[in-house]
Amino acid sequence: MDEIRRGPAGLLPHQLEFVADRASKIRVMQGGYRSGKTVTGVAVVVDMGFRSQGAPILVIEPTYRMIIDVFVATATRMLEAWGLPWRYHKSDKVLTIGRRRRFDVLCRSADQPRSLEGLTVGGLLVDEWELCDREALQVAMARVSIGPCQQIVLTGTPEGYGPGYDLILAKPASTTRVWIVRSKANTFLRSDYVADMESRLDDDEAGEKLEGQRRAKGGRVYSRFSREVHGKTPCVLPGRGDLQVWADFNVGKMVWVVAEADPARRCAHIVGEFVGTNTDTAEQAEKITAYLAAHLTRVRRREITKQDVRSMRIKVYCDASGTQRTSVTPLTHVALLKQASFEPQHGLANPLIDDRVNTVQIMLRDKRLTIDPAAAPTTTMTFERQAYVNGQPDKSGGLDAAADAVGYGCYWQFPVWRPVPTAAPGEVRRDSFL
Ligand SMILES: Nc1ncnc2c1ncn2[C@@H]1O[C@H](COP(=O)(O)OP(=O)(O)OP(=O)(O)O)[C@@H](O)[C@H]1O
Ligand SMILES: [Mg+2]
Repeated sequence: MDEIRRGPAGLLPHQLEFVADRASKIRVMQGGYRSGKTVTGVAVVVDMGFRSQGAPILVIEPTYRMIIDVFVATATRMLEAWGLPWRYHKSDKVLTIGRRRRFDVLCRSADQPRSLEGLTVGGLLVDEWELCDREALQVAMARVSIGPCQQIVLTGTPEGYGPGYDLILAKPASTTRVWIVRSKANTFLRSDYVADMESRLDDDEAGEKLEGQRRAKGGRVYSRFSREVHGKTPCVLPGRGDLQVWADFNVGKMVWVVAEADPARRCAHIVGEFVGTNTDTAEQAEKITAYLAAHLTRVRRREITKQDVRSMRIKVYCDASGTQRTSVTPLTHVALLKQASFEPQHGLANPLIDDRVNTVQIMLRDKRLTIDPAAAPTTTMTFERQAYVNGQPDKSGGLDAAADAVGYGCYWQFPVWRPVPTAAPGEVRRDSFL
């Protein structure tokens, strides 16, 4: 950093803070367009290089063209401004920085992960890392193995919940630190840039590409959900509402959501979930009985047995297709639930998906649906991530099971509208219920 401060140009406050972190193993700068990410990356490379006792630093861009047009172009411009000597060896793709104390920057592109094999480096920068292959990221990170620094730096615009996110940020290590930076934080940017871009992007895109806030691609289905709003204060005090289960019958993954509802106030708080893989309805019902007994024992602070749970005849809001017999289940799903002492609740046919989503969205808008994110992580993730694909909620990635279950629970109890007969005989009006 001393080398950088020496020149006539300085760093912005967020850039300085980022460069100054010498403790985190992985640093991520998640920023809006033009927020100064690549310049920060260059500054970090300089800082890591001078700390690595001669070990080279590896820099990766998604493609070779970006190495030249983005990294080398930005680096040489900034090195000039900072008054640091440099030389670029085009054929080796090596940028040498410094004169007396100097180090090499190995510039590689992620589209050729083989070119990374065998390298041994003292630090790593991956610019626009979420546009790189997961494999290339893994190979590159494994190359950082010598010198006293050994830090990894990832800079780029957030790109939804892709493979890069899953690899690094879905379950971040305690040594991983993330900075979220808005485009506006870059005071070198022309003043009307953000306003211009805002007029061209929709709200979700602007959130991600200008504010640096990650959004699901294609628009989130439950766009009104926010962990901050719905994951903090329960709308029904745990232990005070009607305990119920919202279920979706699936062959592979079953997510059954446990909620407490307050019918008078038309609201519900999700207190837990039970995720079964490769289970059948009978097994799932047995397991959720045990789950409910443990939950009730905790909130009521006295021993509640599985037998007690059975005698409560808890309602299960579920898929209407549960009444159909299939070759896999000789008894219907609904019959199996009854056998396990639950009270299945469903219509003759399933509600339209749009109506289900709309009901949930309106409950979220009014804060009549809340969740305990620690107790129901899969359901929380579904609210945060499920996106529209070709106009329909995405069914891949197993995000639909919890969404369907919540949809049944909300729709059958708290529909947005209900048909009411009007003066004209036989005519049904779609009156707003709210
Ligand atoms: N500390 C700085 N000193 C001088 N100029 C800066 C500084 N930080 C950023 N800039 C200028 O702001 C502009 C955007 O910076 P940069 O390319 O680092 O942003 P970015 O977030 O990587 O953008 P993109 O989204 O296009 O990848 C560039 O013209 C750059 O020179
Ligand atoms: Mg950049």
